[in-house]
Amino acid sequence: RFEKRVLMISGALVAVFIFSMLYARSKYNDLPACIPFNKTYTEPKVTKLDDKTYQVFAVAQMWQFQPAQIYIPVGSDVDFYLTSKDVVHGFFISEKNVNMMAVYGNINKQTVKFDKPGVYKITCHEYCGTGHQNMQAEVIVN
Ligand code: CUA
Repeated sequence: RFEKRVLMISGALVAVFIFSMLYARSKYNDLPACIPFNKTYTEPKVTKLDDKTYQVFAVAQMWQFQPAQIYIPVGSDVDFYLTSKDVVHGFFISEKNVNMMAVYGNINKQTVKFDKPGVYKITCHEYCGTGHQNMQAEVIVN
């Protein structure tokens, strides 16, 4: 029967979809985590937890990121916390597969290891107005 076949095929597609979602999750266990809103921070800062662990509290705002320059020693794990003071911004570090949204009233988090020295550009990849093209910051690892 035709209907039965359609049902089976769509069921199989759903199964494949769910499986690939679970697979993606297990493969990239450092996917951005959304932290429920309680009290969002407003002051950008970099906190050193120990020699190899840092927290970056980043604030996006038309049209800049703060801190604009983040200095990190090689081999560090960095927890990026991200929020916005106004519209939705993006937070993208292509070399590190970092891809977050900055949303007013919310905090997103992603942890990244920087094991090679260099300057890693942070760019806004969500259109946010006339200054969008120039909205960037950098992580300086050395
Ligand atoms: Cu901020 Cu585009």
